[in-house]
Amino acid sequence: MAGPAKAPSQIRLLLVEDVGQVTRYIRGVLNAQTAVKLLDVVPDGAAVIDQVREQQPDVLVVDALLTGRMNGLQVAESVRRAGIDLPIIVLTVPQKPVVVGSGMGLARVLEMPFSGYEFMNMLQQVTAEHRASSPESLSRVIAFHGAKGGLGTTTVSYNVAVAMARTRRVRVLLFDGNLQYADQRSLLQVPQETRSIVDLPTDKLTQAEISETIFTDQNGLDILFGPPRIEDAEMITVRDMEKLLSILRRMYNVLIIDTPRAVNEVSLAYFDAADVILQVATGEVAALYQTALMNATFQAIGFGPDKVRVLLNRFDAQGMLDDKAIRQYLGRPVDFHVGNDFKLVVEANNRGQSMLAAQQNSKVSQHINELARALTEALPAPPPRPVLA
Ligand SMILES: Nc1ncnc2c1ncn2[C@@H]1O[C@H](COP(=O)(O)OP(=O)(O)OP(=O)(O)O)[C@@H](O)[C@H]1O
Ligand SMILES: [Mg+2]
Repeated sequence: MAGPAKAPSQIRLLLVEDVGQVTRYIRGVLNAQTAVKLLDVVPDGAAVIDQVREQQPDVLVVDALLTGRMNGLQVAESVRRAGIDLPIIVLTVPQKPVVVGSGMGLARVLEMPFSGYEFMNMLQQVTAEHRASSPESLSRVIAFHGAKGGLGTTTVSYNVAVAMARTRRVRVLLFDGNLQYADQRSLLQVPQETRSIVDLPTDKLTQAEISETIFTDQNGLDILFGPPRIEDAEMITVRDMEKLLSILRRMYNVLIIDTPRAVNEVSLAYFDAADVILQVATGEVAALYQTALMNATFQAIGFGPDKVRVLLNRFDAQGMLDDKAIRQYLGRPVDFHVGNDFKLVVEANNRGQSMLAAQQNSKVSQHINELARALTEALPAPPPRPVLA
């Protein structure tokens, strides 16, 4: 993973427990060390949400057998419902087993009695796993590619980037990777003088210079635009590009690249840098045909189905092929779907606006939000190998 490695920091623990004996035992275990800091002991389950918000723990340990208004499982559930993303360890006794993953996203169950060693180990494990999977520690490059013109690559990549930026949980950069046509410039209708990749020095490039070249749109999304003129594309070499991508990767959690249709040295640099290549397709024969063609090229390069994913745009538009036919043309299943809303999307595009800003609750905006969430989480398992039709 890119970026400076974080020093392993102290784990801040909040304990939800009303049995003095258990509290004393845990205090005793923690007394002997400094890796874990016990912030507080909360005996009342109903007070937990407020305490979590106030004390910002890294991990919550909850006794399932808590008495009072809420038992431990209800506490865990209320934390999830409040949208608090925190690993939870549930303490219980062997006579009252607790099932992990019963919709509460419980991280782990620890049965009493446990040793100090077991307790410390579990704390370290759940917090490490949680840190690794949290969006803030992500470093992911996502290249959007349309194997045919006009499939929605620019529209979907822009709106997904906006969706990520609006959560304020990840630092996301949209990279306008079509160096000749700079599609994001025309989508956002920026003035000719808006700075672009050609304003960056090719020698000794620094983060500060990149930051000065980056445009922030009305949604708080950072964008590095392509050049204002078609012939400017020639000024950018593959080496410059590789360097730029590696610096950008350190500056942002997610890099979204709107790549050109043509395959060339620069676009290969995008695909190489990418953790995920999202092939944008529609349910039309010509689009699927070209998508399958490009998919075969990706496979020939060595990019397998874990890296190359298919997004079906406008999937519910009239006249599109059905799922079975689409799968046959592609030789693989579709991973993501975005619906069709020509009026919303064209009007938003014509205003140089995100469809999310225009209509946050529309069906297609929700698809975009779901896609953004999926792309910032652990990706779902890749589809099975191609089936012979
Ligand atoms: N989900 C959608 N619903 C309705 N219309 C859409 C949707 N996605 C894209 N469009 C429309 O499709 C057209 C093409 O979109 P866009 O320019 O994003 O495609 P592209 O693949 O980037 O094209 P190019 O080949 O020029 O790079 C636009 O008119 C856009 O408004
Ligand atoms: Mg485009």
